[in-house]
Amino acid sequence: MATIAGPGSFASLRMPAADEDGHDLWLRYRLVSNAERLAQYRTAIAHLVVPGSSPTLGAARDELTRGLTGLLGRAIPIDAAATSTATLVVGTPASSREIAALNLGGRLTAVGNEGFLITSATLRGSHVIAVAANTDVGALYGSFALLRALQTQGDLATLSDSSAPRIQHRIIDHWDNLDRTVERGYAGRSLWDWDHLPDSLPAVYRDYARAEASIGINGVSLTNVNANAKVLTAPYIEKVRALAGVFRPYGLHVYLTARFSAPMEIGGLKTADPLDPSVAAWWKAKADEIYRAIPDFGGFVVKANSEGQPGPQDYHRTHADGANMLADALAPHGGIVLWRAFVYSNVPAQDRIKQAYTEFKPLDGKFRDNVLLQVKNGSLDFQPREPFHPLFGAMPKTPLALELQITKEYLGEDTHLVYMGAYYEEVLKSDTRVNGKGSLVADVIDGSLHGYRQTAIAGVSNVGTDRNWSGSHFNQANWYAFGRLAWDPTASSERIAEDWTRMTWTNDDAAVRTIVHMMMTSREAVVNYMEPLGLVHMMGTDHHYGPAPWVKNLRPDWTPVYFHRADTIGIGFDRTVTGSNAVAQYSPEVARHFGDRDSVPDAYLLFFHHARWSDRTRAGLTVWYDLVRHYYAGVDSVVAMRREWHTVQSTIDARRFRDVDDFLAIQEAEAKWWRDAALLYFGTFSRMPLPARFAPPPRTLDWYMKLHCPADPAKPRCPEIYKLYLTR
Ligand code: GCU
Repeated sequence: MATIAGPGSFASLRMPAADEDGHDLWLRYRLVSNAERLAQYRTAIAHLVVPGSSPTLGAARDELTRGLTGLLGRAIPIDAAATSTATLVVGTPASSREIAALNLGGRLTAVGNEGFLITSATLRGSHVIAVAANTDVGALYGSFALLRALQTQGDLATLSDSSAPRIQHRIIDHWDNLDRTVERGYAGRSLWDWDHLPDSLPAVYRDYARAEASIGINGVSLTNVNANAKVLTAPYIEKVRALAGVFRPYGLHVYLTARFSAPMEIGGLKTADPLDPSVAAWWKAKADEIYRAIPDFGGFVVKANSEGQPGPQDYHRTHADGANMLADALAPHGGIVLWRAFVYSNVPAQDRIKQAYTEFKPLDGKFRDNVLLQVKNGSLDFQPREPFHPLFGAMPKTPLALELQITKEYLGEDTHLVYMGAYYEEVLKSDTRVNGKGSLVADVIDGSLHGYRQTAIAGVSNVGTDRNWSGSHFNQANWYAFGRLAWDPTASSERIAEDWTRMTWTNDDAAVRTIVHMMMTSREAVVNYMEPLGLVHMMGTDHHYGPAPWVKNLRPDWTPVYFHRADTIGIGFDRTVTGSNAVAQYSPEVARHFGDRDSVPDAYLLFFHHARWSDRTRAGLTVWYDLVRHYYAGVDSVVAMRREWHTVQSTIDARRFRDVDDFLAIQEAEAKWWRDAALLYFGTFSRMPLPARFAPPPRTLDWYMKLHCPADPAKPRCPEIYKLYLTR
């Protein structure tokens, strides 16, 4: 039962919350439940003044009307000018006489092109709240921030906000194919309905843009990094133009993935050699064509010479040759190239994770001004936990963009409740030490450490046609947290979780505390039940679902055994001087920290060291015992999350409560699967028994190894596991 104040009265009445399907995301705008706050908001905001005819100010007006009507439970008239007290005025000094009259001067200048100020003021004797910006899109971002303050039931009396993004290009990367399948997508089909574009523009496109603008995202790359050249043909450019038209009022720039061999595939050329003048001319003409249709086109995202994709190395050219050629085509229009550093060659190397650094470090300073190198958070591939990528801090003359994964390819896909905000914060706060203590990854990517001329961050989308957008209600939090941290990489993921919870679920303080606690513990839980103590890459081949630490008969650096290296002596990949020496890619202090058995954190132990089973971890336990302990702790955390979820039932609508509850049951079953399969397997090497306090697995190793899950790679499900473990 939720406490809801009826519109027009301050009385609270108890009624069941109406069922929701999650489609409204964090933009639900339900009536403010706290009667005192509702009264305050109604007194302060009775009129709205958002003059200006631009589509972006129109979007701000629409959003405020929708939001305030819902939150305050009554219509808010839109006035031409602030003539009555209790008015909310929104705009720029150019669009609004009221904002101009406030003379915000240096305070406003300081927030730059996309920032905003929220302030209270007296204007011609009337009390007003002002959302002021230098640009229309800044005013839109400020409008969303004001709505957030009301959604989270903040105190207007103390509300004064001044905010500007610390990163310039804040981009969502869709790995969407033109046939509407989504690579590593777990939320239905691609939102982009290419067959019906450009003629049909369903409302969901605008809602998508609203959601992105609400978290400050200003770029969207529409297509898979494993690119299809067809998206660069004239009919598709027309389709992209139509989407860009819907997104434009919300400040969203469109990017496309550029397949390096496109000049051959759709241009009829015999080569895609970046130093061939006909190839450069083709790309230049292609860029001109795109910009004629989409003048604010963002640029190209490129995956080249990685996992079989074409690239400049096919012609014995460097990544810089390839990136610069594309950059030259985009430069006259102000576009950028996001050249991905996720590369590893087709020939297995001594240590796969060293390759990106080995290839790109020598190219520092060799890229054009409008090239950014897009680097995944870790040197392997979005594992539940990885140390930060050694390229961060190593490329002072080349702007590095951070690529994070929002879709949880390796962290339980759609079903598992894992709050990625905590993960992103761990990456952003990692200390590269390149310019002494406090040279954080966040400082690298916001440009402050090396004085980068451009800055960017990209998140691989988890959005699809599912009614709730993200495959599960809690996965929405990861989209939300990515946007908020892209705007401010120094922000606290816990604070962001609290805002999201209040906007998405409830403002009941006890329930908020519980849900935030679940979210904040969820990340460590998944690490513990999948890949504790620095283990990585133990999942099933190709589909990446479920445990398969025993897989070995593939290309070596695609197999779990290559990464965990378990034997009768110990476990872990020696990346110190006695092994692959990957630690040497970090700054000397970090290299020492990770490379020394006495200082390496347990969380990265087996990533950098081959430890004996009987060695002691920093926790003072044997490696075997500590491994077991972590796996069991992971499952226990999921059991605790299920219990916690039940304590908030009365504050949440029945439908979404049940959706989450069902997925938590699956998560618990799959966590047990991971734990039992992994420990039975590693036990064959350690030859140590499971300590008596831990309940033994219900099946043999052979049983787990013979499971064929998932039957359909596109559907991460394992009925046998549910039958064995699922409890209600
Ligand atoms: C991972 C993922 C691929 C993806 C690749 C990339 O390997 O499994 O599907 O294409 O990353 O980031 O390029």
